[in-house]
Amino acid sequence: MARFIYIFSLGLGILVSAPLFVQAASNESAVQVEKDNSVGAKLYVAHKCYECHRAEEHHIGPSWQAISLRYANEEDGSSLVERLSTKVIKGGYGAWGILPMNSNPGVSPEDARALVEWVLEAN
Ligand code: HEC
Repeated sequence: MARFIYIFSLGLGILVSAPLFVQAASNESAVQVEKDNSVGAKLYVAHKCYECHRAEEHHIGPSWQAISLRYANEEDGSSLVERLSTKVIKGGYGAWGILPMNSNPGVSPEDARALVEWVLEAN
């Protein structure tokens, strides 16, 4: 009986808290889109890049601002966009620290390019 109550309350806890998590995630998205109504911002929300990236603070991955500053002086812009957008789709590691970026196979090459161009404008 105690076990049943335990499992029941655990289930109830998850049911009650799940909408809170969903709400927290969509608030975050709302904030981002409010600031910036561009295609890039919409893709950022649609592809859930916010799970690891923020505009100005380091989260799990580097901030958009840090990425944009780092590559600001890169000579050949088009190959930079190609390289970074391939990394967005396939994932990769070693440029910013020990954490790898997972692959994002649901992101099309066009969306990845649009996202990277948007990120590189972020400062
Ligand atoms: C699960 C976490 C996670 C998600 C989701 C994620 N990233 Fe990343 N991203 C990272 C980490 C960690 C790094 C740093 C990787 C490294 O050190 O090379 C990174 C690095 C990057 C870089 C810089 C790469 C470089 O070589 O300098 C770009 C651009 C980027 N992410 C874009 C995106 C975009 C766009 C999305 C959404 C489609 C996305 N990321 C989703 C974790 C994530």
